[in-house]
Parts: sequence; C-alpha cells; structure tokens
Amino acid sequence: MRKLLIRITMTPGALVGLLLLAALDLSLAGSARLSRTHDVRAEAVAIPAGEAALARGAHLVNVICATCHGANLAGGQPPDPAAPPAPNLTPGGSLGACTEDDLVAALRSGVTPIGRELNPEWMPWEFFGQFAGAELAGLWLYLQSLPALEAVV
Ligand code: HEC
Repeated sequence: MRKLLIRITMTPGALVGLLLLAALDLSLAGSARLSRTHDVRAEAVAIPAGEAALARGAHLVNVICATCHGANLAGGQPPDPAAPPAPNLTPGGSLGACTEDDLVAALRSGVTPIGRELNPEWMPWEFFGQFAGAELAGLWLYLQSLPALEAVV
C-alpha cells in the first residue's frame, strides 16, 4: 500500500519534470535553429533585356496592333468599317524607312515621320504613347523582325 502511494505521489512530480525537460529541449532546439546560418551562393542570372523586350513587343503587337493592321501586320481594315485602312507595319511599309525614335515619336505625339497627323479616333496613339519606354522599344524590335511584306491595303 505504501509503495502504491509513493508511486501515485511521484507520478505528477515526474510528469512535471519530464515536461520541463521537454520544454527546455524544445527551446534549445528552437534557438539553435534561429542562430543556424546557411551558406547559399546565388548564381548570377543574366536577364536578356533585348529578348524580354522583344517578347513583350510581340505580345502587344499581336494582341493589339494586329486587330486593325491585319494578322500579318501588312495592313488591314479596322473593325470599325468607317475607319480608314490601317497601313502596313512590316519593314515593307513606311516603317521600313523609319528609326525607333520615329515610331516612338509617332506613338507619343501622333505625328508620323513625314509630318502627317494620326487621328486618335482611328489610330489610338494617345493610349499607345503611354506604354513604358521598354515596351515601345519592344514594339519596334518586333516590327523590325517581321518579314518585309507588300501592303495589302
Ligand atoms: C483601332 C485600330 C488600330 C489599332 C489597334 C492600331 N492602329 Fe495603328 N493605325 C490605325 C489606322 C486606321 C491608321 C491610319 C491612320 C491615318 O491614316 O490617319 C494607323 C496608322 C498607324 C501608323 C502610321 C503608319 C504610317 O505609315 O503613316 C503607325 C506607325 C501605327 N498605326 C502603329 C500602330 C501600332 C504600333 C499599333 C499597336 C501598338 C497600332 N498602330 C494599333 C489603326 C489602328
């Protein structure tokens, strides 16, 4: 009977002791994890600015410009039948004789290199002129990469 009593009274004490030991162990493990250091060497990743701009330009041209300037960009009739035809944007058209600056100026000012004003009602240059510089550069890179096609309209 005495032995049993001892066992019962010992048990809570032993439990508390075990819990304390476990907590101490956890906090030691935790602080060891916090103070652990890792030697990770990051490889330098080259981001191809030209290619990224070209890919962005291709996307913009094919999603936006092709709607009016034709699927192959050689010119087309905009969806609005009242609009004038949208000219050839491949190097076979007037852009073939242009520079990147000419295109950027046309999209930012609405005035083409030959001094013609683009009507923002038909050619939404006011919207395109707000593209970031890298996007305009991408438009130019992509348009220049197209085959020089004959104008279709
Ligand atoms: C909603 C139809 C539409 C969209 C979209 C459009 N264009 Fe045009 N674009 C036109 C029309 C129409 C003209 C001809 C306007 C005129 O003669 O006044 C034109 C003319 C131009 C010209 C002048 C070309 C020249 O030979 O004078 C350039 C450059 C041009 N667009 C570039 C673009 C680019 C780049 C995009 C895409 C970012 C684009 N356009 C999207 C309708 C559009």
